Amino acid sequence: MHDFRYIDGRFYCEGVSVESLVKKHGSPLYIYSQKTLVSNYQRLDDALKGLDHRICFAMKSNSNLAVMNTLASSGSGFDVVSEGELRRVIAAGGDPTKCVFAGVGKTEQEIRYALEQNIYAFNVESEPELERINRVASKLKKKAPVAVRVNPNIDANTHSKITTGTYENKFGIAFETIEGVYARASKLKNLHLRGIQMHIGSQLTEVKPFAAAVSKVLPLVEKLKASFGIEFFSIGGGLGIVYQQALASGTNAWWKRPEAKEILTPAIYAQALIPLLKGLGLCILIEPGRFISGNAGILVSRVEYIKRTGNKNFAIVDAAMNDLVRPAFYDSFHEIVPLRRKTGVKVSTDVVGGICESSDYFCKDRPLPKLVEGDCIAILSAGAYGSVMGSTYNSRSLAAEVLVNGKKSALVRQRQSLESIWQYESLAPWSTTRE
Ligand code: LLP
Repeated sequence: MHDFRYIDGRFYCEGVSVESLVKKHGSPLYIYSQKTLVSNYQRLDDALKGLDHRICFAMKSNSNLAVMNTLASSGSGFDVVSEGELRRVIAAGGDPTKCVFAGVGKTEQEIRYALEQNIYAFNVESEPELERINRVASKLKKKAPVAVRVNPNIDANTHSKITTGTYENKFGIAFETIEGVYARASKLKNLHLRGIQMHIGSQLTEVKPFAAAVSKVLPLVEKLKASFGIEFFSIGGGLGIVYQQALASGTNAWWKRPEAKEILTPAIYAQALIPLLKGLGLCILIEPGRFISGNAGILVSRVEYIKRTGNKNFAIVDAAMNDLVRPAFYDSFHEIVPLRRKTGVKVSTDVVGGICESSDYFCKDRPLPKLVEGDCIAILSAGAYGSVMGSTYNSRSLAAEVLVNGKKSALVRQRQSLESIWQYESLAPWSTTRE
C-alpha cells in the first residue's frame, strides 16, 4: 500500500509531481508520503481493534522528525534503542511515556536518561542489564519498569542478517531460563516487572513464525502474569512488505521466491494472532518499523552517465550506497522506475552509484526502460532503513528529505553541507598547516 504512482506518464507522490520536488530540492532526495504513513499505521491499528493494544513504531527504520511527528499525532508510541532516539522522540513532539527501550548495550547514562523521562518500559536483554537498571534506578530513588526479552529460539525464515529469535543471535534471554530470571529480578527492589517482550526477526512474509513464537511463549506469559502481575506482552515488529511491485519487472534476489507475492497483510496478521492473545488479559504491544515506513518512502536519483563494459550496461546515478545501503548489505531488491514513464524495449541494466566499491549498486542485470544521461529515477520502498542507515562514506553528504501531504510538500531535512561532514574534526597540534 502506498501513494506513489504515474499520472499521465509522470511519477507522483500523492498530489505532487516528484520531478517538481527534484527541481526544487535537487538529488539525491528522499521523499515520504504522509498519507501512506498514516494509512499503514491506521490499518494495523484497526486490524488489532479486538485486542487491548499499543503500537510503538520502531523508529530505527525511519527517525526523521517529521515522519515521527506524523506518527505521534496518529497516537503512536516508539520503540527506541538509544538515548539519541529517545531525545528525537521528544524533539519530534512524541510522548516518552509511550516508549519502550530495546537493545543489548544500554549504558548507565542511557538508563538514567530514560528513567528521568519516565519511559513505559525497558526491554531487557540480559541479567547484568537487569542489575544495572536496578542500580541506576535505586540511585534515582525510582522503580524502573522492565520487560525481559525472551528469545524463543524460533527460526523466522528471513534473511540471516535480520533474524533475531534463535540462540545463534545475541538478542534476548533463552526461553528455558526466563522463569528463573523473573524470580531473581522480583527480588531487586528498584524494578517493576511490567511485561515480557520478544522480536523474532524482520521482513517476515509469513504469519506462521509469529504464531509459532506466540504459541510457544504464551504458557510462560500466563505464568508470569499470575506470579508477578505483568501487564503487557510485546510481540515485537517484523511484518514484511512487498518490495517487488507491479510497477516494473525484475528478478527478486532478496527473496528468491517469486511466488511470495501475497504478503502479510494486517488482516492476515490479526486473524492469526488475535485468537491466541485475546483471552490473555494483557495489553499487547507491537513494534513495527518497516511495515509503516517502508513503502512510504522513495529515493530519487539522477543518471549521471551511461556506460557499457563488455556486455554490461551501467547507469551510474548520483545516489550511492552511502544513501541506501540495503542492496549492498542484504542483496535486497528495490523496484526502480523512471520519473517519466518510458515505453519501448527494456535493457538489462545495473544501476550503480559513484562510490569506489563493487557492492555500490541498486540493481543488477535488471530489465529497465532504456535510461539516458539526465533521466531521474525513483528507487522504491526506501522509507525503512534507508536514510537512517546513510553515511558520509567517500565524503558524500547525507541526502535531503521531503514530506508530502496531498498537494503540499515540505523540506524536512536539508541537504547536508560538505563542510559539516568534517566539522568535528581538527588537525593535531603538531601538524604543519599551510599558511
Ligand atoms: N523491535 C525490535 C526489537 C527490533 O530489533 C526491530 C528491528 C524492530 C522491532 C522492527 O522491525 P521491523 O518491523 O522494521 O521489521 N536494517 C535491516 C533491518 C534491521 C531490523 C532491526 N530490528 C533492513 O534494512 O532490512
